[in-house]
Amino acid sequence: MKNKIVLITGAASGIGAATARNFVAAGAKVFASDVNKSGLQVLIDELGEAVTGHQADMSDRAQVETMVASCVERLGALDVLVNNAGVGSLARAVDLDPDEWRRVMAIDLDSIFWAARVAMPHLIASRGCMVNTASISGIAADYGFTVYNTAKAGVINLTRALALDYASQGVRVNAVSPGLIETPLSVMRPALAEEWESRIPMRRKGKAEEIAAVIAFLASEAASYITGQNIVVDGGITAHTGQPDVPGFTSTGSMPR
Ligand SMILES: NC(=O)c1ccc[n+]([C@@H]2O[C@H](COP(=O)([O-])OP(=O)(O)OC[C@H]3O[C@@H](n4cnc5c(N)ncnc54)[C@H](O)[C@@H]3O)[C@@H](O)[C@H]2O)c1
Repeated sequence: MKNKIVLITGAASGIGAATARNFVAAGAKVFASDVNKSGLQVLIDELGEAVTGHQADMSDRAQVETMVASCVERLGALDVLVNNAGVGSLARAVDLDPDEWRRVMAIDLDSIFWAARVAMPHLIASRGCMVNTASISGIAADYGFTVYNTAKAGVINLTRALALDYASQGVRVNAVSPGLIETPLSVMRPALAEEWESRIPMRRKGKAEEIAAVIAFLASEAASYITGQNIVVDGGITAHTGQPDVPGFTSTGSMPR
């Protein structure tokens, strides 16, 4: 990653910040974008001149396009685009305000399309790659996650579509789908956290660094033959059918007859 130019959206917090730390440690120059200016400043204070900060709101197409152009203008190229910014939203369809649907779709899904359109010529020039942060909520559905489920499913198939269309020009496009990760996005009541973690085979939340490591792998030469894939990093939760732990249900722990 030495001197590679890496644009990361949603870089001020959680998975994006962990990803920025990882790329800087690997010698990359990071163009860190976020709507949260003060959060970006904290990252720049921590990581120093390897990070260039850029404030942009991913719900606004013009700001997304300016972000990509500014990265190339200021740092001279684009080798890796990490589309990571995202927001959640909790409501069943009938209760979901259409304006909220549009806001979340814009940030979580449209922004990746907008960024890809303007970034692709630069990625073709650098034979670079894209990594999109999707979610296990894009693979199956959750109660009350209507718009998030829809947007993240879109991210996974947009990843495949982009991968097919640009593979022959040397650009790889992949996604990572985290399960429950300990970041400000997943703060919840302790009782809910306990219930949630009890459903994860590894019985814990993941760490932002555990997602950043997979993003770094997908962006690296070690993944040079991987494109159009969605790598799930979830402590095993999507390996489960949802059926009860039958041996765990018996007093002896053995299979009941
Ligand atoms: N934490 C989890 O459990 C989890 C699980 C699956 C997927 N994800 C995905 O991981 C990604 C990163 O989330 P995180 O957990 O690090 O959350 P986070 O809240 O810590 O970080 C998200 C960042 O995105 C930024 N952001 C929000 N709206 C924006 C906008 N309109 N324009 C620009 N930036 C904006 C925020 O300011 C923040 O810095 C998201 O796409 C999220 O959906 C998270």
